[in-house]
Amino acid sequence: MRFHIITIFPNVFSGFLEESLLKKAIDKGLVEVHLHNLRDFTTDKHKTVDDRPFGGGPGMVLMIEPVDKAIQAIKSKEKGRGKVIMLSPRGERFNQEKTKELTGYDWLILLAGRYEGFDERIREHLVDEVVSIGDYVLNGGEVPAMVIIEAVSRLLPGFMSTPESLEHESFNEYDEKGQPVLDYPQYTRPANYKGWKVPEVLLSGDHKRIETWRRRNLSRVEGPTS
Ligand code: ADE
Repeated sequence: MRFHIITIFPNVFSGFLEESLLKKAIDKGLVEVHLHNLRDFTTDKHKTVDDRPFGGGPGMVLMIEPVDKAIQAIKSKEKGRGKVIMLSPRGERFNQEKTKELTGYDWLILLAGRYEGFDERIREHLVDEVVSIGDYVLNGGEVPAMVIIEAVSRLLPGFMSTPESLEHESFNEYDEKGQPVLDYPQYTRPANYKGWKVPEVLLSGDHKRIETWRRRNLSRVEGPTS
């Protein structure tokens, strides 16, 4: 899977890409993350990427031209199935279903904006979809892009050292109402910490009882998830 990030803050990604399982996946060639600095697609000497909104109002708006140039430059070198995703709190809510769907692509362009917003024509003409990671406003799409990279990458075959742990994981199972079923509670040593004890059944070695206990203690998301 090849992720292309369009951003004016490429350095924000460095620690994220250089640690842990994601770094291993990159080293193995399972995941590629290409950072594209939006300012490299500007034509003026100040490398301007934003301007004041037509009609007035506060803040600055991300201009269409550098975004268009960046997207076309990436697409011209790509092959296979891909998608252009704009990150915005106005988008469709990101969830595990969406994550699974995105694993079906060879490449993704994640457009991380800053400032007050994007020129609306970017959404209308240049992107396939707009995705939000939740109902709150961040300073930009960089953290949402990282969220998507991590959620999608860990579902790719070969990413996890113990792929079985994905099978029973939260959001992989749904109840009869279509609500995601979350994990059962987990404990590890010590069995008694400051008098806070692990449920006795989990220490019993009786796999049938443990299974029943776990099924009874699955947690669920409360209320609607969309
Ligand atoms: N940019 C700013 N806030 C965002 C959010 N919640 N989701 C996606 N992109 C964003």
